[in-house]
Amino acid sequence: MFFDWLKKYMPRGIYGRGALILLVPVVVIQLVVMITFSQRYFEDITRQLSSGVVAEIGLYVVAVGEIPPEDLPGALEILDDQLGFVSTLGAGAQVQDRRPWYDISARVIGDELHKAVPGVEGIDVGSDPRRVVTSILTGNGRLVIDFPRRRASASNPHQLMVWTAFTGLVMTLIAFVFLRNQLRPIRQLARAAEAFGRGESRPYRPAGAIEVRSAGAAFLNMRARLERQIEQRTLMLSGVSHDLRTPLTRIRLGLSMLDVPKADADELKAMQRDLDEMERLIDAFLDFARADATEEPSRVTLQALIDGAVDRSERAGRPVAIGEMPDQPVTLMGRPDALARALDNLLSNARRYGTQTRVSLRLFERAAVISVEDDGPGIGPEDRERALQPFVRLDAARNQNRGSGVGLGLAIARDVARRHGGTLRLEASTELGGLKADLVLAR
Ligand SMILES: Nc1ncnc2c1ncn2[C@@H]1O[C@H](COP(=O)(O)OP(=O)(O)OP(=O)(O)O)[C@@H](O)[C@H]1O
Ligand SMILES: [Mg+2]
Repeated sequence: MFFDWLKKYMPRGIYGRGALILLVPVVVIQLVVMITFSQRYFEDITRQLSSGVVAEIGLYVVAVGEIPPEDLPGALEILDDQLGFVSTLGAGAQVQDRRPWYDISARVIGDELHKAVPGVEGIDVGSDPRRVVTSILTGNGRLVIDFPRRRASASNPHQLMVWTAFTGLVMTLIAFVFLRNQLRPIRQLARAAEAFGRGESRPYRPAGAIEVRSAGAAFLNMRARLERQIEQRTLMLSGVSHDLRTPLTRIRLGLSMLDVPKADADELKAMQRDLDEMERLIDAFLDFARADATEEPSRVTLQALIDGAVDRSERAGRPVAIGEMPDQPVTLMGRPDALARALDNLLSNARRYGTQTRVSLRLFERAAVISVEDDGPGIGPEDRERALQPFVRLDAARNQNRGSGVGLGLAIARDVARRHGGTLRLEASTELGGLKADLVLAR
């Protein structure tokens, strides 16, 4: 849109924007009022007043020209008395033009005087701000006239500006305090929602205007429902797994006590293998359920986390190459055990489906990304979403002789990433040629 370029310069926070919305109209109104008002009002008034004074000075000049010299001192005295001027004839020195640069009305006085009275040498408004002194050459010598400034211009025009600016500032400050109080609940809601996205449950109480309050209440409802659901899922999964274990143990015991003829020994072995498989499945269920268990978030150093997972993977028999790593330790609020489990799952996949593994950590403004790459067959773009589903294993061919998994590894890793405000991304590894799994974590 037309105003798109403006966005770059706009403040991004709500306080900044609020302040801008508040400030811009106030400043514009003040400027418009100050400029038009002071121009119209003060210049016009100054012009009117000074043309009056100029006419009076003209009167002096006429008097000096017309009245006989012997009557002149008396006549000037009368004029001074009546008009409130102080005049000297013949004795004073020439007055130089002098005025401060900011004094606009003084310029008007000077212009009017020069225009209307012949013989004006100079006007001094700078030496004493409350008086105007001018010298005029007449036929009877130099006439110096000294009169109060307020006779010629509206007094203290800048006072208006000072007052408008000052009250404007005070009102803006007061308004900003109120605005802040209105905006704070919005910010608190945003923080609570952000924290919940990362898996933290921060204390939050709806406050502020009705709309913000109802949004806050809706958020709290949503959060409570989600927490309840997670809790129920955990309970159910671990309950089922636990309850299955008891009969399994009983069967195992029963099988081992069976006295079977030699011919059936192979069948017995197969049954025991099935039992092992079932137990492994149950362990995987428990793991999955535990990913949601109530582990409290704490500050986690990602490098340490990676080191630990790499250690475990190497002990399981596969060297792991370390790729790109930031120099500084990277920390974030997270659940260390869950994160370790997610990483272990990715590394075990790399071990199972490839022959080389590499781990790297990259840092972005709002996220940290841990990548696990391998040189295996990878996962085609069309299968990626499916591979992330729980209990999904891709084509049987690829999984032959690679030990049997349950299909939970990627699902658990994604679950963990999501509960840290991030996600799990599957891509093709450009360098190793296999799968690249990006564990994206908000920070
Ligand atoms: N690094 C990889 N390279 C190629 N295919 C992979 C890779 N990782 C996972 N897959 C495919 O995605 C499927 C799902 O992986 P996931 O980790 O969820 O389950 P799994 O490894 O089969 O079992 P589990 O991890 O529960 O023991 C796997 O069956 C496999 O086909
Ligand atoms: Mg796996």
